[in-house]
Amino acid sequence: MAEIAVMGLGTVGTGVVKIISDNAGIISKKLGEPLQVRTILVRRFRDGPYRHLCTDDFSKIENDPAIRVVVETIGGVDAAYEYTRRCLEAGKHVVTANKQLIAERGCELLELARKKNIKYLFEASVGGGIPILHPMLECLAANRIDEVYGILNGTTNYILTRMVRTGAFFSDALREAQRRGYAEADPTADVDGIDAGRKICVLGDLAFGHQIDPESVPMEGISKLSLRDVKIANRAGYRIKLLGRALRLGPENGFESGSRTAYVAPHLIPESMPIANVEDVFNAIVVRGNAVGEVMFYGRGAGEMPTASACVSDVMECLSSWGEAPLWSPDVSGFENPLKLRCRHYFRIEGSLTDAAMAFGQVEVLSEDGETAFLTEPVTGLDAKKRAEKLNVLSCLRVLS
Ligand code: NDP
Ligand code: HSE
Repeated sequence: MAEIAVMGLGTVGTGVVKIISDNAGIISKKLGEPLQVRTILVRRFRDGPYRHLCTDDFSKIENDPAIRVVVETIGGVDAAYEYTRRCLEAGKHVVTANKQLIAERGCELLELARKKNIKYLFEASVGGGIPILHPMLECLAANRIDEVYGILNGTTNYILTRMVRTGAFFSDALREAQRRGYAEADPTADVDGIDAGRKICVLGDLAFGHQIDPESVPMEGISKLSLRDVKIANRAGYRIKLLGRALRLGPENGFESGSRTAYVAPHLIPESMPIANVEDVFNAIVVRGNAVGEVMFYGRGAGEMPTASACVSDVMECLSSWGEAPLWSPDVSGFENPLKLRCRHYFRIEGSLTDAAMAFGQVEVLSEDGETAFLTEPVTGLDAKKRAEKLNVLSCLRVLS
């Protein structure tokens, strides 16, 4: 019998306990022994089917030699960091869905796990139920990863889909995402692109082998996005999606060898690209390897059971001999400002086509309706900003190509 603990009985923690019970037969067959939840750490006791397993005393987990794996689904950094560190120090494997903790303190905690010869796994921290971290590290191991980008936040993709498809108000769509268990405890992290930013840091850390400091990553969410831009883009054959992007940079694109960058921002995406049609709570992550080309991973990016599916699979990996331990270097040097990247830009201005052409030369007009919406030729973000200085800019978005 393998016994584990769960810390935090919220959306994901409850899903973990449910899967271990519902799929007990399958799990036991694959592990070669039954898997059981022995203790659940809560901060407030509530009635329910797992009440008899609950404690609010962390030392009951830390000091219990029968507990081999601890699942951390508390979220945030403070208590989650402290308990994770102490579980690893106590020689227990730890599994988490907590992207904030991995993005901010992952490097240090992974090093501690390595020293203790135990596992610290976090497949659920990016893409919810989508297998992405293991496939990127293992199945694409023969590649140099040059780029990772994707729709990394289920809540904002759900909100955008509801607003565009059914005309729902932003606040109603957000409330529904919260009711379904998709949103973070503080949903501004979703709406302002911070959650996607933490995930792109984790993906970049693993893809490039160096820490990306979340503090240096520009993160823009959907709160300033106008439905007018969404409609103009749709009519012109584009969809607007919130993307996180991390790129390896080098002399071939005018940067120092070994440099990299990452950012989060809404993008126009041509509707012919599969990722443009990823809707609702679904996420999609594209990995570009130098041998394989582009590979896209797709599935439910948030929610109780999809996320718990990834957590429980990680628990099973801890208890078996599958998989290599992920690790990256703490060296953050070589991070470039993503505004140095060249791409086409979408602008909506209060002004005429002549104003647009004076600033950008040749442009592609999408709409002239009192205001002018247009696409530029590829320019760096810094250049776009400079050229637009004299324009009355209502919106500016990057275009993915
Ligand atoms: P919830 O807010 O639903 O659950 C967190 C739980 O942890 C709550 O029950 C909370 O208790 C409890 N908790 C908080 N502090 C402590 C503490 N000090 N000791 C014991 N329990 C504590 O969050 P989620 O389940 O949605 O998310 C958990 C983690 O998983 C987060 O890191 C999140 O980013 C990540 N994640 C979530 C996904 C989702 O779809 N929801 C998907 C992928 C990752 P109380 O009820 O008292 O507040
Ligand atoms: N709040 C996150 C999202 C949960 O909506 O994507 C999954 O990480």
